[in-house]
Amino acid sequence: MKYVPLLLLLVLPTPTHASEMFISPGEKTRIEEMVDKIIEINTNTSSTSTNNNEAKLDEITGLKIFEEIETSTTTLTIQAPMIKLWQASGGIRSTLKTGMKSNEVVILQGLLSAYIPDFRNTFVSGYFGAKTRDAVKKFQKMYSLPETGTVGAKTREVMNSKYLMDLCPFKNTTPKFFENLDRKTAVAIDYVPGELMVLPKNIRTAGIVCLSKEPADHLSEMVKAAKKAGHELIILSGYRRYEVQKLLKEWGVKNNIEVEEHEAIGLAEAGHSEHQLGSTVDISGKSLSYIGPSTAFGKTPEGIWLQQNSYKYGFIMSYPKGKENITGYIYEPWHFRYIGKDSAEKIFTENMTIQEYLNMTKKTTVQNES
Ligand code: DAL
Ligand code: ZN
Repeated sequence: MKYVPLLLLLVLPTPTHASEMFISPGEKTRIEEMVDKIIEINTNTSSTSTNNNEAKLDEITGLKIFEEIETSTTTLTIQAPMIKLWQASGGIRSTLKTGMKSNEVVILQGLLSAYIPDFRNTFVSGYFGAKTRDAVKKFQKMYSLPETGTVGAKTREVMNSKYLMDLCPFKNTTPKFFENLDRKTAVAIDYVPGELMVLPKNIRTAGIVCLSKEPADHLSEMVKAAKKAGHELIILSGYRRYEVQKLLKEWGVKNNIEVEEHEAIGLAEAGHSEHQLGSTVDISGKSLSYIGPSTAFGKTPEGIWLQQNSYKYGFIMSYPKGKENITGYIYEPWHFRYIGKDSAEKIFTENMTIQEYLNMTKKTTVQNES
């Protein structure tokens, strides 16, 4: 059990500052399917052992639901699938109390199972009963909140902060914008970029999305400029910590998800993803009803505008068409990485890939081009 000083909670951005929430229909279905499976198993097998339940969940979802990945400098407190659910749902936003049954209750119970010692994983049912109420009271006691047993605004704020600390751990360090990642080269499992923040309200996001501050600021500018040019963008994904990338990759492989919809084949192994750098985003737009990631994005007005203009804001499409042999990844017109304005301009004008540029300049050390 990990306790975080209350002071740290106060300085962290909370999801109440989060951007306009959007949950794409595909993501919603995926979340609901997974939640249904968790609920079904936990409610139907109360007499079997915890281990059996866990094995069944793993088998059905294809995920190591209850596996915790401990790293040397950062630790995931809440289970990765729960963090993904929380992120995609835009946080716990409703008042939760006895008698309710919902996906938000699943997210609440995922948190309780991490923080309250006698609230077991197998109690995660989506139903808010007496055990959940007692665990909520214990959580409230732990954080000096009124012990009501109901998840109201204050309790939600602390709970959402807990989730956020796992999704986007805060480090006061300079992020690495010039790591050359590919199928062979990885960053450390425990690499967490500095200055992660929740994207501000002027950026439309699919759930809660974080980036390091410098790319986030430039992304804001880019989104504003796109809007001025008549294009509405959505950020589908940003920083993905190692454990979340691992989860997505396992999920994609196991479920053989359509490449166009969910970049399954294109997904990098955990540690190899530019998303772990805190400087990379997946984008879609209004023309695609804000769904994706999709190769169709490359032909939309928004996708074309980005191809022509993103470098002005320091962003480059990492995996362009025709360069698959160099990048090692399929064409991903939705995936843009921040590399700083000067580097981006050079990469764009010389029609290079980020890898080619980084190999050429050997910019592998910590740098800051701001
Ligand atoms: N889709 C890109 C390669 C990633 O997973 O980072
Ligand atoms: Zn991506």
